[in-house]
Amino acid sequence: METETITLEKPRLSPTITSLVDSTDAQLEERFFSSLAWSHSNESSNDFRSDFFTKPSLPMLKAIMTTSLGDGDMGEDETTNSFCRYIADLVGHDASILTLSGTMGNQVALRAALTVQPYEILTDYRAHIVNWEGGGASGVSGALIRQVVPSNGHHLTLADVKQHATLTDTYYDAPTRVISLENTLYGTIMPLSEMRAISKWARERDPPIHMHLDGARLWEAVAAGAFTLREAGECFDSMQLCFTKGLGAPIGSAVTGSTAFVRRANWARKHLGGSTRQSGVIAAPARAAVDYVFLSGKLAPAQDKARRAAALWLRLGGKLLRPAETNLVWLDLEGSGLALDEYNDAARRFDLKVGEPVHGRLAFHYQITDAAFARLCEFFRAVLPPRGGGRGGLGVVDVRSGGVANGVAVNGYS
Ligand SMILES: Cc1ncc(COP(=O)(O)O)c(C=O)c1O
Repeated sequence: METETITLEKPRLSPTITSLVDSTDAQLEERFFSSLAWSHSNESSNDFRSDFFTKPSLPMLKAIMTTSLGDGDMGEDETTNSFCRYIADLVGHDASILTLSGTMGNQVALRAALTVQPYEILTDYRAHIVNWEGGGASGVSGALIRQVVPSNGHHLTLADVKQHATLTDTYYDAPTRVISLENTLYGTIMPLSEMRAISKWARERDPPIHMHLDGARLWEAVAAGAFTLREAGECFDSMQLCFTKGLGAPIGSAVTGSTAFVRRANWARKHLGGSTRQSGVIAAPARAAVDYVFLSGKLAPAQDKARRAAALWLRLGGKLLRPAETNLVWLDLEGSGLALDEYNDAARRFDLKVGEPVHGRLAFHYQITDAAFARLCEFFRAVLPPRGGGRGGLGVVDVRSGGVANGVAVNGYS
């Protein structure tokens, strides 16, 4: 019997697909991982623009791959639930919930804390909730925001709070119902003693004033040895902690507090559309960020680079706007005699990313490499060449004091 041979025409594939077809599984896997942005941090190694210009790491991706996929909105996701218990335990609060961003975390917490109008939130005039959250506290909560200028130029004190809080409740008034502190603020640390004093006073009011902390970078204060997470936790009724600042998670923040408060925060989050379905994909990499970056001690070496950079800048005659107490260094470009264009052009020549969103601020995160740090030092030397006597030096001691600013150690912060 004659058999007909059918020759299948080989499909014409693009060179990329052909090479995929011809690869072994191991080659495919290697190729897959090496082409992932997750698997290396080169893109962020020279990025000093902010500590959120990090790239999520492979452990974070692996955490996503192995997460449970229950419904977060219904409270059914085990990865999310255990992570929320874990974060609450780290700060000594009863409970926590995930939010999509730090802004959402602050807004959820403020909305949950404020119940019956009229009300006012008292905060530092430089606070993120005042300047960078699209007016959310007024829009979402309808609160008046009492912005206070710290009398010591560095952090709010109990005296500042007492002077500006609205404690009367005539029909003219919007009584202070929340005190919202930020730590770190501009990378500077509010001392534990001050947080304790304000908290004690607030809780002794009738009714007690809710203490909220925007702790987007609380991790940095703890890494600098200022206090523990639990010591900070004791001072607040709610805290917002970012996993994307310095810790490198791709997404997410937590809001912590008492069981009753977090129940209300859950409502506020729902109200804002921030309740998510398979929330394990957020919680899992956030946990990897806390464990592999914060708890494994990766913030301190980055802060060390920040301190050395600040010291070099001052040695070369440059000036700082405020002390470098954690991972942020604030160069006073104008005071150092530098035009912004000159500074930016030189940075590009040294292959350094600086600038927007905040000019003159340098953020040090754990993915900044030694090579990029070395180039930063060369860049400083190029833009601030040594001159007889220097052009900066002691200069004006900024009232935003504490730490090392313009070569002068003030308030014991250095
Ligand atoms: C102090 C502080 N709070 C809150 C936020 C808001 O975080 P997100 O950008 O995730 O909304 C930021 C962001 O940089 C911040 O610096």
